Amino acid sequence: MKKIYLYGNWKMNMNREETEKFYKDFGGQVAGDPALLAAMGKTLEVAVFPPFTSLAAAEGASKNLDKRTVPFLGAQNVYFEPKGAFTGEISIPMLKDFGCAHVILGHSERRTIFGEPDELIAGKVKAVLDAALVPVFCYGETLAEREGDKTFDVVSRQLRAALSGRTPGEAEKIVYAYEPVWAIGTGKSATSNEAQEVCAYSKKLIRELAGSAAMPVVVLYGGSVKPDNAKELLSMEAIDGALVGGASLKADSFLQIYKAYANN
Ligand code: PGA
Repeated sequence: MKKIYLYGNWKMNMNREETEKFYKDFGGQVAGDPALLAAMGKTLEVAVFPPFTSLAAAEGASKNLDKRTVPFLGAQNVYFEPKGAFTGEISIPMLKDFGCAHVILGHSERRTIFGEPDELIAGKVKAVLDAALVPVFCYGETLAEREGDKTFDVVSRQLRAALSGRTPGEAEKIVYAYEPVWAIGTGKSATSNEAQEVCAYSKKLIRELAGSAAMPVVVLYGGSVKPDNAKELLSMEAIDGALVGGASLKADSFLQIYKAYANN
């Protein structure tokens, strides 16, 4: 049974009221579907990643939903120290306090706009694993790197840095998200073959780095996933799911992506 991951990265969007509305619309719609999916031999893991200021609203809103349909709650970033003089930062215990199970790390906007280097991201991956949360590790090349034939070098460098010092058991717990920077927020998704090629390469490399040829590895694709391209992307053999930005902000379009899989 192929398990599909559908993650919504809200970025710096969605206040409390919008968050509550999303939960009401999304939860109400998917109720009953888990049984339907199981009958079709499919399983699905849905998670949403609100901004820190809407985590409480998301946690509160999920209490009103049918338990089987509550999306996992995640954060978009974290700092690796547990507490102290780190103005402006949020710790892992603080995220746990809101019921977060996942944390996005190394998103290209963190790397390019806020200058987060590979080593800092690797430290965060370790801390999140140590705390038994799921790191959703993002990586991917820029347009200049792709055009310069550097895609595999960049992907390899980023994955090696994140996995340096990690055991096979730890490497297996990470959810990897291949997000070509040129496809994020541009409306221009990678083709299903382009995404498949890099996701397949990533799986092979992750298994090599972990020294475990048979290890299960989950790799998502992210970058302009929309209702009209989700079905094709999700049907690719090396793609286990989608990390969705813009199209996850409205319950309706996120649901259409969900249904593209459910009816696939
Ligand atoms: P997008 O963002 O779907 O809006 O392109 C994806 C992401 O950055 O995770």
